[in-house]
Amino acid sequence: MMNISKLTPWFLFLSLILLSDYKVRGSISPSSERPQEGGIFGFKPKALFVFGDSYADTGNTPLIAASWRFPNGITFPGKPTGRFTDGRVSTDYLAKYIGLKTPIVYKWGRYGQPKGLVKKGMNFAFGGAGVFETMFKIVPNASVQIDSLERLIRRKVYSPADLNSSVAFFSIVGNDYLTYDRRNGSEQGRPALIRRVVKQILLDVKRIKDLGVRKVLVALSPPQKCLPLLATPRGCDTNDTSTNLHNSLLREGLTKLNDEKINKNAKSFIMFDLHNAFATIFKNKGVPGVSTFLEPLKACCPTKRGKSCGDVGLNGEKLYSLCKDPKSFFFWDNVHITDQGWRSVFSLLLPDSQF
Ligand SMILES: *[C@@H]1O[C@H](CO)[C@@H](O)[C@H](O)[C@H]1NC(C)=O
Ligand SMILES: *[C@@H]1O[C@H](CO)[C@@H](O)[C@H](O)[C@H]1NC(C)=O
Ligand SMILES: *[C@@H]1O[C@H](CO)[C@@H](O)[C@H](O)[C@H]1NC(C)=O
Ligand SMILES: *[C@@H]1O[C@H](CO)[C@@H](O)[C@H](O)[C@H]1NC(C)=O
Repeated sequence: MMNISKLTPWFLFLSLILLSDYKVRGSISPSSERPQEGGIFGFKPKALFVFGDSYADTGNTPLIAASWRFPNGITFPGKPTGRFTDGRVSTDYLAKYIGLKTPIVYKWGRYGQPKGLVKKGMNFAFGGAGVFETMFKIVPNASVQIDSLERLIRRKVYSPADLNSSVAFFSIVGNDYLTYDRRNGSEQGRPALIRRVVKQILLDVKRIKDLGVRKVLVALSPPQKCLPLLATPRGCDTNDTSTNLHNSLLREGLTKLNDEKINKNAKSFIMFDLHNAFATIFKNKGVPGVSTFLEPLKACCPTKRGKSCGDVGLNGEKLYSLCKDPKSFFFWDNVHITDQGWRSVFSLLLPDSQF
């Protein structure tokens, strides 16, 4: 066992990161046109690289994080895995869609071992990340996550051919805005922030492509006002101006990148429309044949503000409550999505697949 006093800084970091309205969002949505062969990518990728926040993180956060504690992981695999959910997250479902195993987390694969696994890609996503520095200061932002891939390429862990048969998933969907709110950013300043964030996302995804990755799937923002953290008992607006501005700028930017000469026939950037998926699930209270969420804006594992599912007090008392049946909830905690929630999102966005 580790000496607890040594862990104190991590606890602080944790409670900051993990649950002080730790907001992470991610999204995957394919464009409507879907090639017959090879699914949304048009070919069968041999490797998957992931950049993002807790919606995509499969265990990069330190072991002291609440995501490594009960009841996270209770649905699958039955114990905590570092994911902020009861089961699988977006990365797992995307890997399954592609026909790959969930990529190894950077934390374990950074030294290029084990080789077989590393060749199938890597997950650089880290809970709390944004494109800029967030309130979780030591969390690597998207640029730093991309630097990590670049370093592995320089060390020849990935060849140009490996990269040319790989795809990336970029899913940074909310911590930059959460941080702005936390710092009492003004409403007048918000559109300028959204422009800066989208501009940086576009630089980031272009950089991933320029490293040699064949296609990049980019998450649009889910409805920003509809987390249990922010939604009111009367519901929430899935058509709010901030989310709309973010997504319309991002669509526009990605379309422009796809139209550049060098990408002309490649359609290198694919949109993953989390907004559409979330809004549809809220409206229909689930996905027919897949899930039923009678109260889609309610969390299975709600906490007080500033706490995370899995947090315990000094005397070991739980700082969360837990629902009976996570399968009937879309949201896991005040911010994150359940396994069944992600399955529903993927069933909607990649409708010809079995999840
Ligand atoms: C990302 O983080 C690094 C290290 O803290 C920092 O140097 C860099 O400016 C950040 N990138 C952006 C786009 O803010
Ligand atoms: C990547 O692979 C595709 C399909 O085989 C090929 O058309 C393209 O020229 C390759 N690009 C590079 C940079 O090797
Ligand atoms: C934001 O505003 C709240 C309430 O007015 C205040 O308590 C808090 O200290 C402010 N935070 C920052 C970072 O300015
Ligand atoms: C969303 O709101 C805009 C105006 O802000 C409106 O033009 C548009 O029709 C709305 N979309 C939906 C689906 O309600």
